[in-house]
Amino acid sequence: MKNQISASILNADLLHLEEVVRKLEAAKVDMLHFDVMDGVFVNNISFGIPILSALSEATSMYKDVHLMITDPLRYVDAFAKAGADMITFHLESESNPMAVINAIHSSGCKAGISIKPATPADTVFPFLDKVDMVLVMTVEPGFGGQGFIHEMTDKISEIRREADKMGLSLMIEVDGGINHETAPLVWNAGSDVFVVGSYLFRHSDLVEAVNGLRFESQEAVKA
Ligand code: DX5
Ligand code: ZN
Repeated sequence: MKNQISASILNADLLHLEEVVRKLEAAKVDMLHFDVMDGVFVNNISFGIPILSALSEATSMYKDVHLMITDPLRYVDAFAKAGADMITFHLESESNPMAVINAIHSSGCKAGISIKPATPADTVFPFLDKVDMVLVMTVEPGFGGQGFIHEMTDKISEIRREADKMGLSLMIEVDGGINHETAPLVWNAGSDVFVVGSYLFRHSDLVEAVNGLRFESQEAVKA
């Protein structure tokens, strides 16, 4: 059991996205995290379907699409066609969660459900056996480069405990403020997919940054 690193390109050099992707491939990053914002669900607008299509033509990296939009159901097929492998939507969006999960699976993608910092862990319990991944936001969604909210580690543990109780091998992803100091905390709490944005792109050595965030066993690591 080891963790996976999903690189958020939100704060990457977007003018040279192809170069960025080549570097991430060379550093053996497991997934490309693609943050979609509609300016309504969150107070920011990022990028969408055409950029994902372009990326899909350029790389076979696993595409982990994080939809921070109000009406995810409407766009599932378009993101699937644009090359998404995993599509994660927010429980707080104006949608029927089961309808979105079913649409994502029907499109051939893995399904993730995400909750914002103020949303309690038990709100996702009814969906744990329906999804492939739960994404716990460890910052308020909308912007990269924010500070990790420490209270979120308890939420991760609660979800991991419930998944274990149900006998599920659920992926738990964390997103926001992950760096060499916070990674051990979220690993010990039970998450196994780390979204990392600004920490990777600010680091002078990408390979070193990625390798420093990898944990190989289920044993607790020193924070
Ligand atoms: C925030 C996004 C994140 C963000 C992570 O709404 O979902 O994926 O880009 O960036 P860092 O690692 O800089 O917090
Ligand atoms: Zn994200």
